Amino acid sequence: MKKLIKKMSILKSNLHFEIMTIHYKFCDFFIDRNKIIKEIEIKYGFCVLDFGCGPGRYITFLSKMVGDKGKVYALDIHPLAIKKVKKLILKKGLKNVKPLLLDDKAELQNNSIDVIILFDVLHEIENLEKVLKDFYRILKVNGVLYVSDHHLKEKEIFSKIINSGFFKFFGKSKKTYNFLKEIREKKNKNVLRCLKEL
Ligand SMILES: C[S@@+](CC[C@H](N)C(=O)[O-])C[C@H]1O[C@@H](n2cnc3c(N)ncnc32)[C@H](O)[C@@H]1O
Repeated sequence: MKKLIKKMSILKSNLHFEIMTIHYKFCDFFIDRNKIIKEIEIKYGFCVLDFGCGPGRYITFLSKMVGDKGKVYALDIHPLAIKKVKKLILKKGLKNVKPLLLDDKAELQNNSIDVIILFDVLHEIENLEKVLKDFYRILKVNGVLYVSDHHLKEKEIFSKIINSGFFKFFGKSKKTYNFLKEIREKKNKNVLRCLKEL
């Protein structure tokens, strides 16, 4: 019985993913999806993480932007997303794109990522504190977290990201909110206090 329930839940989840993919295909037919990417500063050689990449709608464009010296990590919690991204990589010959299942995120080194893209994912993340802590770990000092989520109001996006204490607001474009790492000066403050006390 347990096995059957598990199988049903996987089928349901896969069906949900397929419906989402069809929905995106339909939307992308009418709207240029890469418009949102153009709001982001991505340079040749950058290392980009597309977190919650889904079927990989942005990876071809991102791959071109970062070029052969750069890298795009397409990460998702859903195995079907990774399957679709792998297919796309083969079809388009995207040598600089690496698909990652959430469980493999340890592969992402500390201070190694220039840009994290979080598009249409924030409202779905359950363990946000843990995820943002990880973003903090892997982003370079001047790295940027770009967030877009039409399911959330502006103040919800702010409270979710800023209340974590890991990020500060950096700017806003038409569709994206940009955040920088909140550099913690705890150690330095302690040193200053000790110096004052001397
Ligand atoms: C609505 S889709 C957005 C896909 C893609 N970012 C886009 O805009 O085309 C949300 C994606 O986030 C993934 N997701 C949700 N929670 C996640 C988590 N905690 N870690 C990684 N991926 C997650 C889902 O599996 C799904 O593929």
